[in-house]
Amino acid sequence: MVQDPEILVRKANQLSSVDLLNIVQCHDLPKTNDHSVRIHLLSASEVPRNAQEALWTLFDENMGKLAAGTSLATSKGEKLEELFDPATRFAIYTSETSESPALELDNLEGHKLLGFASIRFDTEDTLDSQEYEDGIRAAVVYIYELQVASHARGLGLGRRLLSNCETLGKGTGMQKAMLTCLKKNGQALRFYMHNGYSPDEIDPTMLIQQEQSRKLRSSRGKTNQLNHWVNGEQADTKATSHIDYRILSKQLK
Ligand SMILES: CC(C)(COP(=O)(O)OP(=O)(O)OC[C@H]1O[C@@H](n2cnc3c(N)ncnc32)[C@H](O)[C@@H]1OP(=O)(O)O)[C@@H](O)C(=O)NCCC(=O)NCCS
Repeated sequence: MVQDPEILVRKANQLSSVDLLNIVQCHDLPKTNDHSVRIHLLSASEVPRNAQEALWTLFDENMGKLAAGTSLATSKGEKLEELFDPATRFAIYTSETSESPALELDNLEGHKLLGFASIRFDTEDTLDSQEYEDGIRAAVVYIYELQVASHARGLGLGRRLLSNCETLGKGTGMQKAMLTCLKKNGQALRFYMHNGYSPDEIDPTMLIQQEQSRKLRSSRGKTNQLNHWVNGEQADTKATSHIDYRILSKQLK
């Protein structure tokens, strides 16, 4: 029986951080002789002030320049409000050494913050709900941020954080994992494709291009090979170049 998305989301939002940590059961975090990775699962209100500043700084270092001038650009104040919205949950990876075990989250200086993901359990539009007033929305785990520190990239941490978000989605009965990515962030688009993501049914660029290719097929019988979403801005046609982001998703069940 299909469960009501609103009820699923309400139940997921009632879970505590300890409940969510039990769902994730993170056993495979990388270890070297003197470093290990520790996961912290917290809701926005549980993130200490200093750690909030460290998360913002990592976000800004990774995304500040890239997002400037795009539809995703926001002021620091607006971004902090979005980042620490009460419904947001964080998975934060920190680095622990034998000399500094039991790292506290309000002490995130130096290279201790390796990366983080922020998510919300929510209902999202579907083609059905966009078209019909009584159309059914989808229960999703929306990945708002996925940020790995530059010194910690290429070690599998991004893939693990993404997989933690998907596990939280699956474990709470969400239908899919969803996210928004700038078309000019080619590296991230390739990363998501590599990890099983593709444009969601409500991705505006795809909807326009599907319509265009339907017209093209009936008139000329061919479609544009470069039109593949992972090519970012290069995949744009005149009709889609005003949209600077893609909405991607991955089915969880
Ligand atoms: C995108 C990002 C999260 C990837 O994190 P990462 O820790 O460097 O990636 P991983 O080491 O976990 O890579 C996981 C897999 O994706 C692949 N991958 C990573 N980056 C890739 C890229 N640019 N192109 C193709 N594949 C890539 C890896 O080869 C690896 O494959 P495997 O699982 O088969 O070994 C990281 O680069 C980042 O934080 N970038 C800046 C912030 C950003 O753009 N976030 C996304 C906003 S939408």
